[in-house]
Amino acid sequence: MRNSTRSQVDPFIVMDVMQAAAAAEAEGHHIIHMEVGQPGTGAPKGASAALTAAMEQGALGYTVALGLPALRKRIALMYAEWYNVDLDPSRVVITSGSSGGFILTFTSLFDTGDRVGIGAPGYPSYRQILKALDLTPVDLPTSIENRLQPVPSDFADMDLQGLLVASPGNPTGTMLDHGAMSALIDATQGQGASFISDEIYHGIEYEKKAVTALEISNDAYVINSFSKYFSMTGWRVGWMVVPEDHVRVVERIAQNMFICAPHASQVAALAAMDCTAELEANMDVYRANRAMMITGLRDAGFTSFAPPDGAFYVYADVSSLTTDSRELARDILDKAGVAVTPGLDFDPVRGHQTLRFSYARSTQDIAEGLGRLKAYMAAR
Ligand SMILES: Cc1ncc(COP(=O)(O)O)c(C=O)c1O
Repeated sequence: MRNSTRSQVDPFIVMDVMQAAAAAEAEGHHIIHMEVGQPGTGAPKGASAALTAAMEQGALGYTVALGLPALRKRIALMYAEWYNVDLDPSRVVITSGSSGGFILTFTSLFDTGDRVGIGAPGYPSYRQILKALDLTPVDLPTSIENRLQPVPSDFADMDLQGLLVASPGNPTGTMLDHGAMSALIDATQGQGASFISDEIYHGIEYEKKAVTALEISNDAYVINSFSKYFSMTGWRVGWMVVPEDHVRVVERIAQNMFICAPHASQVAALAAMDCTAELEANMDVYRANRAMMITGLRDAGFTSFAPPDGAFYVYADVSSLTTDSRELARDILDKAGVAVTPGLDFDPVRGHQTLRFSYARSTQDIAEGLGRLKAYMAAR
């Protein structure tokens, strides 16, 4: 039996790193995980308690496709609380993680062969999901001067039907400020293309608040998730905000593709939104880890990176050390017992000379990892 051409997507290299790290652990080695892009913490306690209560009360069958009304309403309220944006809950769509949101978004907005701009470096699955839907990802190589985020001149003559940005971004953690986001929205709309903003790392910001595209325009798709700030990766629940006249279109696709996001996870997510003390305690850990990473990596000899504005990653240029980031990551794992991600997942061209370090784990792990990296670099 043949496979479709569309199905030929690339593997996630970080998964290979995780597998190599697991193999080393199985042999009895102690590995520090700086490769994984997820919180080490679980869902907030209030979320589990709410789910336990809901399971005793009812069957948790399907919800309506757009999601539990109470959750959509609570998310709309969050836009008032976080950004001072007045949002009609009817524009909020609950999804199976932001990953489900991308499928709904791309299906709703684009036709076969349409060209969608994505910043390089960027989250690898954008490219692969687009390809799997027979769409054309167009890499926009970003520059350090623009803090590795796209700017309008990067796609002036590109004939795009869409632009997808992430702020804070993965792998860089850099953000678009109000002016930069506005310029991108204006340029995209000026070309008659659709603007999509991946805001999954909102809430995990250090020096200033992230800007939502909804502060600037209602004519955009915003994608978000409970995976990162709310620490609920495995629950597979997220949301999107779409223009009013797109709600029904997205609803019909969601009904057919997913029926609904997991009911249990929606119940837990609603409760998680009020677990502020616990979520802010997680933030204290990220803040401490970030400060430690900025000094510790420089001290170890990884000096070329922009301090992250948000998320929990440092993306470092290692061109003075290697032209083969995969081999360098392997050597660091073998000799230092620290798992890190080669940049190739995020940027197929320049990623040969970059590494991503995640600091989502405990501060104790980060301190140990930085100590090991320093010893490794000293012995090179
Ligand atoms: C930038 C970005 N967007 C989307 C996702 C997917 O997240 P989820 O499907 O868990 O919401 C990730 C996961 O790491 C990410 O880094």
